[in-house]
Amino acid sequence: MATLKERLFTALESLNTTVIEFRHHLHEHPELSNEEVETTALIKKILSESGLRITTYEAHYGLIAELIVDESKPFIALRADIDALPIDERTLVPYISENRGIMHACGHDAHAAVLLGIALAFAQLQTPLKANLRFIFQPAEEVLDAGAQQMIESGALENVKAIFGLHAYPYLPTGQIGYKYGVMLASADMFEIIIKGKSSHGARPHEGVDAILVTSMVVNSLNHIVSRQIDPLHPAVISLGTIEGGKAANVLCDHVVLKGTVRTVNHEIRKQIPEMMRLTIEGITKSMHASFELNYNFGTPEVLNDKAMVDLLVGEAERILGSENCIDLVDPVMGGEDFGFYLEQIPGAFIRLGSCSDDKESCYSQHNSRFNVDDDALMIGMKVLASTALKALDEL
Ligand code: NI
Repeated sequence: MATLKERLFTALESLNTTVIEFRHHLHEHPELSNEEVETTALIKKILSESGLRITTYEAHYGLIAELIVDESKPFIALRADIDALPIDERTLVPYISENRGIMHACGHDAHAAVLLGIALAFAQLQTPLKANLRFIFQPAEEVLDAGAQQMIESGALENVKAIFGLHAYPYLPTGQIGYKYGVMLASADMFEIIIKGKSSHGARPHEGVDAILVTSMVVNSLNHIVSRQIDPLHPAVISLGTIEGGKAANVLCDHVVLKGTVRTVNHEIRKQIPEMMRLTIEGITKSMHASFELNYNFGTPEVLNDKAMVDLLVGEAERILGSENCIDLVDPVMGGEDFGFYLEQIPGAFIRLGSCSDDKESCYSQHNSRFNVDDDALMIGMKVLASTALKALDEL
Protein backbone atom coordinates (compact mmCIF):
# COMPACT_ATOMS: atom_id res chain seq x y z
CA MET A 1 0.00 0.00 0.00
CA ALA A 2 1.26 3.43 -0.95
CA THR A 3 2.60 5.65 1.82
CA LEU A 4 1.07 9.01 2.59
CA LYS A 5 3.99 10.74 0.89
CA GLU A 6 3.64 8.60 -2.24
CA ARG A 7 -0.05 9.43 -2.41
CA LEU A 8 0.75 13.10 -1.92
CA PHE A 9 3.25 13.01 -4.80
CA THR A 10 0.75 11.19 -7.04
CA ALA A 11 -1.78 13.91 -6.28
CA LEU A 12 0.79 16.62 -7.08
CA GLU A 13 1.67 14.98 -10.39
CA SER A 14 -2.00 14.77 -11.38
CA LEU A 15 -2.28 18.51 -10.67
CA ASN A 16 0.76 19.56 -12.71
CA THR A 17 -1.17 20.84 -15.74
CA THR A 18 -3.61 22.75 -13.53
CA VAL A 19 -0.71 24.36 -11.67
CA ILE A 20 1.13 25.38 -14.84
CA GLU A 21 -2.03 26.80 -16.42
CA PHE A 22 -2.77 28.72 -13.22
CA ARG A 23 0.77 30.16 -13.24
CA HIS A 24 0.38 31.25 -16.86
CA HIS A 25 -2.94 32.88 -16.05
CA LEU A 26 -1.42 34.87 -13.18
CA HIS A 27 1.52 35.80 -15.36
CA GLU A 28 -0.87 37.13 -17.99
CA HIS A 29 -2.81 39.14 -15.38
CA PRO A 30 -0.25 40.52 -12.92
CA GLU A 31 -1.27 42.95 -10.17
CA LEU A 32 0.89 45.37 -8.20
CA SER A 33 1.49 45.23 -4.45
CA ASN A 34 -1.65 46.06 -2.44
CA GLU A 35 -3.77 45.77 -5.60
CA GLU A 36 -4.06 41.97 -5.81
CA VAL A 37 -7.86 41.93 -6.29
CA GLU A 38 -8.25 39.43 -9.12
CA THR A 39 -5.33 37.28 -7.98
CA THR A 40 -6.88 36.86 -4.54
CA ALA A 41 -10.32 36.21 -6.04
CA LEU A 42 -9.00 33.53 -8.40
CA ILE A 43 -7.07 31.68 -5.68
CA LYS A 44 -10.14 31.85 -3.46
CA LYS A 45 -12.37 30.50 -6.22
CA ILE A 46 -10.13 27.53 -7.00
CA LEU A 47 -9.49 26.62 -3.36
CA SER A 48 -13.11 27.10 -2.26
CA GLU A 49 -14.05 24.00 -4.23
CA SER A 50 -11.37 21.93 -2.47
CA GLY A 51 -12.94 21.83 0.99
CA LEU A 52 -10.18 23.87 2.61
CA ARG A 53 -11.20 26.60 5.06
CA ILE A 54 -10.61 29.96 3.40
CA THR A 55 -10.17 33.30 5.16
CA THR A 56 -10.04 36.61 3.31
CA TYR A 57 -9.69 40.08 4.80
CA GLU A 58 -11.36 43.49 4.68
CA ALA A 59 -8.15 45.39 5.36
CA HIS A 60 -5.89 43.86 2.70
CA TYR A 61 -5.64 41.33 -0.13
CA GLY A 62 -4.23 37.84 0.06
CA LEU A 63 -5.83 34.91 1.84
CA ILE A 64 -5.28 31.94 4.07
CA ALA A 65 -6.41 28.41 3.27
CA GLU A 66 -6.38 25.83 6.03
CA LEU A 67 -6.59 22.08 6.23
CA ILE A 68 -8.02 21.52 9.70
CA VAL A 69 -7.62 18.13 11.32
CA ASP A 70 -8.34 19.22 14.87
CA GLU A 71 -8.82 22.84 15.98
CA SER A 72 -6.91 22.20 19.20
CA LYS A 73 -3.78 21.10 17.36
CA PRO A 74 -1.02 23.40 16.06
CA PHE A 75 -0.26 24.35 12.46
CA ILE A 76 2.59 24.01 10.02
CA ALA A 77 2.50 26.93 7.57
CA LEU A 78 3.66 27.34 3.99
CA ARG A 79 3.78 30.81 2.46
CA ALA A 80 3.77 32.23 -1.07
CA ASP A 81 3.75 35.86 -2.19
CA ILE A 82 1.42 36.87 -5.03
CA ASP A 83 2.24 40.43 -6.18
CA ALA A 84 3.94 41.71 -9.35
CA LEU A 85 6.19 44.64 -10.29
CA PRO A 86 5.88 47.91 -12.26
CA ILE A 87 7.95 46.60 -15.19
CA ASP A 88 7.06 46.44 -18.89
CA GLU A 89 7.42 42.77 -19.85
CA ARG A 90 9.69 41.87 -22.75
CA THR A 91 9.59 38.06 -22.69
CA LEU A 92 8.53 36.09 -25.75
CA VAL A 93 6.06 33.81 -23.96
CA PRO A 94 2.48 33.39 -25.24
CA TYR A 95 1.16 34.27 -21.79
CA ILE A 96 2.92 37.66 -21.71
CA SER A 97 1.37 40.24 -19.37
CA GLU A 98 -1.85 41.82 -20.58
CA ASN A 99 -1.55 44.55 -17.95
CA ARG A 100 0.88 46.92 -19.62
CA GLY A 101 3.65 48.15 -17.37
CA ILE A 102 3.02 45.40 -14.80
CA MET A 103 4.87 42.11 -14.79
CA HIS A 104 5.53 39.03 -12.70
CA ALA A 105 9.26 39.70 -12.92
CA CYS A 106 10.13 38.08 -9.61
CA GLY A 107 8.34 34.74 -9.98
CA HIS A 108 5.59 35.34 -7.44
CA ASP A 109 3.21 33.80 -10.00
CA ALA A 110 5.25 30.60 -9.67
CA HIS A 111 5.29 30.78 -5.87
CA ALA A 112 1.50 31.15 -5.79
CA ALA A 113 1.11 28.25 -8.25
CA VAL A 114 3.37 25.97 -6.20
CA LEU A 115 1.40 26.71 -3.04
CA LEU A 116 -1.93 26.29 -4.81
CA GLY A 117 -0.84 22.86 -6.08
CA ILE A 118 0.29 21.77 -2.63
CA ALA A 119 -2.94 22.97 -1.01
CA LEU A 120 -5.05 21.13 -3.58
CA ALA A 121 -3.00 17.94 -3.25
CA PHE A 122 -3.28 17.87 0.54
CA ALA A 123 -7.01 18.55 0.25
CA GLN A 124 -7.36 15.54 -2.06
CA LEU A 125 -5.63 13.13 0.33
CA GLN A 126 -8.68 12.67 2.54
CA THR A 127 -6.39 11.25 5.23
CA PRO A 128 -6.28 12.68 8.74
CA LEU A 129 -2.90 14.35 9.22
CA LYS A 130 -1.15 14.65 12.58
CA ALA A 131 -1.94 18.35 12.86
CA ASN A 132 -3.21 21.28 10.79
CA LEU A 133 -1.80 22.96 7.71
CA ARG A 134 -2.04 26.65 6.85
CA PHE A 135 -1.37 27.96 3.34
CA ILE A 136 -0.56 31.68 3.37
CA PHE A 137 -1.06 33.57 0.09
CA GLN A 138 0.55 36.87 0.98
CA PRO A 139 0.12 40.18 -0.87
CA ALA A 140 2.54 43.10 -1.17
CA GLU A 141 5.94 41.46 -0.77
CA GLU A 142 7.70 43.78 -3.20
CA VAL A 143 7.20 46.84 -1.01
CA LEU A 144 8.97 45.04 1.86
CA ASP A 145 7.06 46.66 4.71
CA ALA A 146 3.46 45.67 4.16
CA GLY A 147 2.39 42.19 3.07
CA ALA A 148 3.93 39.90 5.66
CA GLN A 149 2.97 42.29 8.46
CA GLN A 150 -0.59 42.52 7.16
CA MET A 151 -0.90 38.74 7.22
CA ILE A 152 0.73 38.41 10.65
CA GLU A 153 -1.54 41.11 12.09
CA SER A 154 -4.48 39.19 10.67
CA GLY A 155 -3.41 36.08 12.57
CA ALA A 156 -1.40 34.13 9.98
CA LEU A 157 1.04 32.86 12.61
CA GLU A 158 -1.46 32.02 15.31
CA ASN A 159 -0.72 28.56 16.68
CA VAL A 160 1.92 27.99 13.94
CA LYS A 161 4.93 25.90 14.99
CA ALA A 162 7.04 26.29 11.83
CA ILE A 163 6.88 28.02 8.46
CA PHE A 164 8.49 27.30 5.09
CA GLY A 165 8.72 29.19 1.81
CA LEU A 166 10.69 29.37 -1.40
CA HIS A 167 11.78 31.81 -4.09
CA ALA A 168 12.40 31.09 -7.77
CA TYR A 169 16.11 31.45 -8.50
CA PRO A 170 17.52 31.88 -12.01
CA TYR A 171 21.11 31.34 -10.84
CA LEU A 172 20.50 27.62 -10.31
CA PRO A 173 19.23 25.21 -12.99
CA THR A 174 15.84 23.57 -12.75
CA GLY A 175 16.29 20.41 -10.70
CA GLN A 176 18.31 22.05 -7.94
CA ILE A 177 17.49 23.95 -4.79
CA GLY A 178 19.70 26.32 -2.81
CA TYR A 179 19.66 26.46 0.96
CA LYS A 180 21.50 28.46 3.57
CA TYR A 181 22.00 28.15 7.32
CA GLY A 182 21.68 31.35 9.33
CA VAL A 183 21.10 34.67 7.60
CA MET A 184 20.11 34.19 3.95
CA LEU A 185 18.96 37.68 2.99
CA ALA A 186 19.64 41.08 4.49
CA SER A 187 17.36 43.36 6.45
CA ALA A 188 16.03 46.16 4.23
CA ASP A 189 15.36 49.59 5.74
CA MET A 190 14.48 52.83 3.98
CA PHE A 191 15.29 56.39 4.98
CA GLU A 192 14.67 59.98 3.95
CA ILE A 193 16.96 62.87 4.86
CA ILE A 194 15.94 66.51 4.51
CA ILE A 195 18.85 68.96 4.63
CA LYS A 196 17.57 72.43 5.44
CA GLY A 197 19.55 75.56 4.52
CA LYS A 198 18.56 79.10 3.61
CA SER A 199 18.14 80.47 0.12
CA SER A 200 19.89 83.60 -1.09
CA HIS A 201 21.09 85.09 -4.34
CA GLY A 202 23.70 82.84 -5.93
CA ALA A 203 26.01 85.82 -6.12
CA ARG A 204 25.72 86.46 -2.36
CA PRO A 205 26.34 82.99 -0.83
CA HIS A 206 27.40 84.48 2.53
CA GLU A 207 23.78 85.58 3.11
CA GLY A 208 22.36 82.04 2.79
CA VAL A 209 23.09 78.44 3.76
CA ASP A 210 23.76 76.31 0.71
CA ALA A 211 21.78 73.11 1.18
CA ILE A 212 23.42 71.55 -1.88
CA LEU A 213 26.94 72.06 -0.55
CA VAL A 214 25.93 70.69 2.86
CA THR A 215 24.29 67.73 1.15
CA SER A 216 27.42 66.97 -0.85
CA MET A 217 29.35 66.62 2.40
CA VAL A 218 26.60 64.53 3.97
CA VAL A 219 26.57 62.17 0.98
CA ASN A 220 30.31 61.80 1.16
CA SER A 221 30.35 61.16 4.89
CA LEU A 222 27.46 58.69 4.89
CA ASN A 223 29.54 56.60 2.51
CA HIS A 224 32.29 56.43 5.12
CA ILE A 225 30.08 54.84 7.79
CA VAL A 226 30.29 51.32 6.37
CA SER A 227 34.00 51.54 5.55
CA ARG A 228 35.14 53.12 8.84
CA GLN A 229 32.57 52.47 11.58
CA ILE A 230 31.36 48.93 10.89
CA ASP A 231 33.33 45.70 11.35
CA PRO A 232 34.31 44.62 7.82
CA LEU A 233 33.43 41.03 8.77
CA HIS A 234 29.76 42.07 8.94
CA PRO A 235 28.49 43.19 5.53
CA ALA A 236 26.36 46.34 5.41
CA VAL A 237 25.19 48.69 2.67
CA ILE A 238 24.07 52.32 2.88
CA SER A 239 22.93 53.45 -0.57
CA LEU A 240 21.39 56.74 -1.61
CA GLY A 241 18.94 56.33 -4.47
CA THR A 242 17.45 59.78 -5.01
CA ILE A 243 18.48 63.39 -4.50
CA GLU A 244 16.24 66.36 -5.15
CA GLY A 245 16.78 70.03 -4.52
CA GLY A 246 17.11 73.49 -6.01
CA LYS A 247 14.95 75.57 -8.33
CA ALA A 248 17.21 77.93 -10.26
CA ALA A 249 20.83 78.17 -11.37
CA ASN A 250 21.39 81.49 -9.61
CA VAL A 251 19.60 80.79 -6.31
CA LEU A 252 21.13 79.00 -3.34
CA CYS A 253 19.01 75.96 -2.65
CA ASP A 254 17.14 76.04 0.68
CA HIS A 255 16.51 72.32 1.09
CA VAL A 256 17.49 68.97 -0.40
CA VAL A 257 15.70 65.65 0.01
CA LEU A 258 17.67 62.40 -0.14
CA LYS A 259 16.24 58.89 -0.12
CA GLY A 260 18.08 55.65 0.36
CA THR A 261 18.23 52.15 1.77
CA VAL A 262 20.23 50.33 4.43
CA ARG A 263 20.98 46.60 4.29
CA THR A 264 22.59 44.52 7.04
CA VAL A 265 22.89 40.87 8.00
CA ASN A 266 23.58 41.53 11.67
CA HIS A 267 20.82 42.57 14.04
CA GLU A 268 23.03 44.65 16.36
CA ILE A 269 24.63 46.60 13.52
CA ARG A 270 21.23 47.19 12.04
CA LYS A 271 20.10 48.86 15.27
CA GLN A 272 23.23 51.06 15.43
CA ILE A 273 23.17 52.45 11.89
CA PRO A 274 20.40 55.07 12.29
CA GLU A 275 22.34 56.64 15.18
CA MET A 276 25.59 56.57 13.20
CA MET A 277 23.79 58.35 10.38
CA ARG A 278 22.20 60.87 12.71
CA LEU A 279 25.51 61.78 14.35
CA THR A 280 27.23 62.15 10.97
CA ILE A 281 24.51 64.39 9.56
CA GLU A 282 24.24 66.37 12.77
CA GLY A 283 27.96 67.15 12.87
CA ILE A 284 28.04 68.39 9.30
CA THR A 285 24.83 70.41 9.36
CA LYS A 286 25.75 72.06 12.66
CA SER A 287 29.17 73.15 11.41
CA MET A 288 27.57 74.61 8.29
CA HIS A 289 24.64 76.41 10.04
CA ALA A 290 22.12 74.06 8.45
CA SER A 291 19.58 71.72 10.04
CA PHE A 292 18.13 68.35 9.09
CA GLU A 293 15.43 65.73 9.49
CA LEU A 294 16.16 62.01 9.36
CA ASN A 295 13.15 59.80 8.84
CA TYR A 296 14.32 56.22 9.26
CA ASN A 297 11.89 53.41 8.48
CA PHE A 298 12.75 49.91 9.66
CA GLY A 299 11.53 47.55 6.93
CA THR A 300 11.88 43.81 6.77
CA PRO A 301 14.32 42.10 9.14
CA GLU A 302 16.96 39.74 7.79
CA VAL A 303 15.80 36.29 6.66
CA LEU A 304 17.24 34.16 9.45
CA ASN A 305 16.80 30.45 8.82
CA ASP A 306 16.45 28.05 11.73
CA LYS A 307 19.07 25.29 11.69
CA ALA A 308 16.73 22.44 12.63
CA MET A 309 14.21 23.57 10.01
CA VAL A 310 16.89 23.79 7.29
CA ASP A 311 18.04 20.28 8.25
CA LEU A 312 14.47 19.01 8.01
CA LEU A 313 13.83 20.65 4.64
CA VAL A 314 17.18 19.70 3.10
CA GLY A 315 16.74 16.12 4.32
CA GLU A 316 13.50 15.92 2.33
CA ALA A 317 14.99 17.71 -0.69
CA GLU A 318 17.97 15.34 -0.79
CA ARG A 319 15.66 12.34 -0.86
CA ILE A 320 13.75 13.86 -3.78
CA LEU A 321 16.55 15.49 -5.80
CA GLY A 322 19.75 13.82 -4.60
CA SER A 323 22.27 15.57 -2.37
CA GLU A 324 24.27 16.76 -5.40
CA ASN A 325 21.27 18.90 -6.36
CA CYS A 326 20.87 20.57 -2.98
CA ILE A 327 23.33 23.43 -2.98
CA ASP A 328 24.64 25.15 0.14
CA LEU A 329 24.63 28.81 -0.92
CA VAL A 330 27.20 29.73 1.78
CA ASP A 331 27.02 33.52 1.39
CA PRO A 332 24.00 35.69 2.19
CA VAL A 333 22.82 38.29 -0.33
CA MET A 334 22.07 41.92 0.48
CA GLY A 335 18.61 41.81 -1.11
CA GLY A 336 15.59 41.76 1.20
CA GLU A 337 12.54 39.47 1.46
CA ASP A 338 9.70 40.03 3.89
CA PHE A 339 9.67 36.35 4.83
CA GLY A 340 12.04 37.71 7.50
CA PHE A 341 9.00 39.00 9.45
CA TYR A 342 7.68 35.45 9.88
CA LEU A 343 11.09 34.07 10.85
CA GLU A 344 11.43 36.81 13.43
CA GLN A 345 8.54 35.17 15.30
CA ILE A 346 8.70 31.45 14.65
CA PRO A 347 11.28 28.96 13.34
CA GLY A 348 11.30 28.11 9.68
CA ALA A 349 13.33 27.95 6.51
CA PHE A 350 13.38 29.74 3.18
CA ILE A 351 14.99 28.19 0.10
CA ARG A 352 15.88 29.05 -3.48
CA LEU A 353 14.17 27.05 -6.19
CA GLY A 354 16.40 26.62 -9.26
CA SER A 355 14.37 27.85 -12.25
CA CYS A 356 16.86 28.35 -15.08
CA SER A 357 15.88 26.15 -18.05
CA ASP A 358 18.15 24.33 -20.53
CA ASP A 359 17.23 26.75 -23.33
CA LYS A 360 18.25 29.66 -21.04
CA GLU A 361 14.95 31.47 -21.66
CA SER A 362 14.26 31.51 -17.93
CA CYS A 363 17.73 32.46 -16.73
CA TYR A 364 17.37 36.25 -16.71
CA SER A 365 17.80 37.85 -13.32
CA GLN A 366 14.90 38.81 -11.06
CA HIS A 367 13.26 42.17 -11.86
CA ASN A 368 14.60 41.96 -15.43
CA SER A 369 11.93 42.58 -18.08
CA ARG A 370 12.72 39.15 -19.60
CA PHE A 371 12.61 37.21 -16.32
CA ASN A 372 10.53 34.06 -16.37
CA VAL A 373 10.31 30.81 -14.42
CA ASP A 374 10.81 27.39 -15.99
CA ASP A 375 7.49 25.51 -15.68
CA ASP A 376 9.38 22.30 -14.84
CA ALA A 377 10.62 23.91 -11.63
CA LEU A 378 7.08 24.06 -10.23
CA MET A 379 6.81 20.32 -9.58
CA ILE A 380 10.15 20.34 -7.81
CA GLY A 381 9.04 23.22 -5.59
CA MET A 382 5.76 21.46 -4.85
CA LYS A 383 7.36 18.14 -3.91
CA VAL A 384 10.06 19.68 -1.73
CA LEU A 385 7.70 21.97 0.20
CA ALA A 386 4.88 19.41 0.45
CA SER A 387 7.11 16.66 1.80
CA THR A 388 8.74 19.18 4.16
CA ALA A 389 5.31 20.05 5.52
CA LEU A 390 4.45 16.38 5.95
CA LYS A 391 7.72 15.71 7.76
CA ALA A 392 7.27 18.80 9.95
CA LEU A 393 3.80 17.55 10.96
CA ASP A 394 5.42 14.29 12.01
CA GLU A 395 8.00 16.03 14.15
CA LEU A 396 5.73 18.55 15.86
NI1 NI B 1 10.42 38.11 -5.07
